[in-house]
Parts: sequence; structure tokens; C-alpha cells
Amino acid sequence: MPGTPLLGRSNDDDSKYILTAVMNAAIHFENIRKTLGRREVLRGVSFDVASGDVFGYLGPNGAGKTTSIRILLGLLRADSGEVSILGRNIDRAETRMDIGFALDPDGLFDTMNALENLNYYAQIYDLRNPTSRIENLLGTVGLADRGEDQVRTFSRGMRQRLALARAMIHDPSVLILDEPTAGLDPTARIEIRTILLDIARRDEKTVLLSSHDLDEVQRICNRIALIDRGVIKLYGRLDDLRRSNAPNSVRIETESEVPPAALAEIESCERLGFREAKGRRLLFEPAEGTTGLADVVAFLAGLGVLVEKAERGGSSLEELYSSILEEVEQR
Ligand SMILES: Nc1ncnc2c1ncn2[C@@H]1O[C@H](COP(=O)(O)OP(=O)(O)O)[C@@H](O)[C@H]1O
Ligand SMILES: [Mg+2]
Repeated sequence: MPGTPLLGRSNDDDSKYILTAVMNAAIHFENIRKTLGRREVLRGVSFDVASGDVFGYLGPNGAGKTTSIRILLGLLRADSGEVSILGRNIDRAETRMDIGFALDPDGLFDTMNALENLNYYAQIYDLRNPTSRIENLLGTVGLADRGEDQVRTFSRGMRQRLALARAMIHDPSVLILDEPTAGLDPTARIEIRTILLDIARRDEKTVLLSSHDLDEVQRICNRIALIDRGVIKLYGRLDDLRRSNAPNSVRIETESEVPPAALAEIESCERLGFREAKGRRLLFEPAEGTTGLADVVAFLAGLGVLVEKAERGGSSLEELYSSILEEVEQR
């Protein structure tokens, strides 16, 4: 249903996710299922990427990231579900002109130099007079003085940067990158990260990148989806997820909506660490050294606010992700 805000969700009851309505989604991936061989690799995967997001599609190896990306790019058909980019069907030529991508393999020709590679892709996209565009792009990815060098002489990091330039040759508004920093040394990772942030901010691109590295995703992305065995386990704005998964947080569900006067009292009590109220749901991060949950519930009771459900904050993102990775190792 175009135009309606859509919610990221998962059909796994155990999953934790933050419902975040994404208006004008640049990428819409809804309830996608895909079986490859005898295995259901994607089991009802949904997420939205808002325009201007740097979206991290995080998950351990084998989780289903590449399969999702291939479906997103129209390289693989989903068994069911809906995909759209910029509100349009992905099979339309005009949609494709608005998408740039870099996958593995990277589509670069080893025996051609960097300029020749970019010129080749400029022709594919029917660009006229691409010379200055190509020069600019080589500058953006830090290869201005390597244009004449054959790609086979490039380091992995240089190759990845050229692949990025290739993905952007036709100036698409959406960039889809499958593990753009995988296998790179720390310096090369930082270079890619800097370029991506630069592109997203300066050129206002929407970026979706996949990664199996939480640290990386936390450094680059503002919104994430965590996928494990074809199921979205966590989805939302990174800020929100960090907050609601903080170990000392307290989540409360009240019997009825909290009256404004009581809410003002709650907000002004510093030790409770009130963070937000959404309908009947309240989120607190009590100061260290308080009784935490009991303190919050007692305070609310004192205001005549009845608590229906109270939960201590979950684990941190790091704990959550490392427990998923441990499970992967044991499989
Ligand atoms: N062509 C295929 N046939 C059967 N299984 C596949 C095929 N491609 C991928 N898979 C399986 O699908 C799962 C998800 O793979 P993939 O999407 O590549 O994960 P990721 O990119 O997150 O590492 C893996 O278990 C993988 O072995
Ligand atoms: Mg992959």
C-alpha cells in the first residue's frame, strides 16, 4: 500500500524489534520469502529504508543478506512478498537507473585500467561526455592518480573503492552494497567508511550496506536490521535500539495512558532517567545505584499510575549480536 507508513517486523515471536514507521521509504521490502534448494533462506523478511538513511543490513554469514540484496536488485525472484525502490517496481528501467550496486564479484575488468573500467560502465548506462564525471568520481574514492593503472595491480581496498565509483557512475539516488568492507584491512575499511559517509551526507544518497560486523555498522549506519537464519531479529533506528537494549533500562506498560500532569512529574524526577512515552509504553534509564525497576514502579504508583507490565532492559546490542554469533558457531 504505497503512501502508508510501514512497520518493520518479523514473524519470529522471540525477536526484539522497534516499530518504526518509515514514511516515504526509499526501499521497501515486505514479507519476502525465498526457498533455495530445500531450505527456506528468507522467512518473511520485512524492512524499510528511509530516504537519506545509511542502512545497515547486519547478520552473520549465511543469514540471508546476499539473497535479500539479490532480490532487491531483481537478480533473483522472491517466492512471495513485495519489493519496491523509490515507490516503483524494481523491474522498471527508470527504477534501475536510480540504483547503483556493488556485489561480489565486483564486475571490474582486471586487464583494463580504472579509467577504462569506468568508461565501460558509463557506456552501459548511456552517459554522454562522462570524462569529468569519471574524474570527479576517481577523486571521491581517492584514486585520482591511479586512473591509468590496471585493476589487477590494485589492492583489495583500491578495488573496492573503484567498485564504489562504478556503482555511482550514473549518479543513482540509492546505493546497494553487499559487504563493501569485507576482507579489508583496518585502514582500507576506514577509507571506505569515510567515502560512504561523505557520499550519504554530501550527495544525499540513500545507502543500504550489508555487513557481518556490528562495530562497522554502528560506525556508519543510522538504521539497522539484524537478520539471522532468514528472520529479522532486530530492526530500527540505531539510537532507539541502543537505548531500549541498554542493560539498565526499564520498560513499563501502564494500564491506561499517563495523564499529562503525571508525565510532567515523571519527567522532572531525574533519578528515574525518563526517556520516552509512546501511548501506554514508557522507557526509563534509571541512574546507577537506584533500585531501578522497583523504584520506577513505586514512583508511578505514587502518582496513581498503574503498571500493567514492567521489564528490565534487555542486553546491549553487542551482547545480543554475540549470542547470535555463538549460536551460529554451535550449529
Ligand atoms: N543457490 C543456493 N542454493 C541453496 N542454498 C543457497 C543458495 N544460495 C545461498 N544459499 C544458502 O542460503 C543461506 C543464505 O545465504 P546468503 O544470502 O548468501 O547469506 P549471507 O549473505 O548473509 O552470508 C545460506 O545458508 C546459503 O548456504
Ligand atoms: Mg553474503
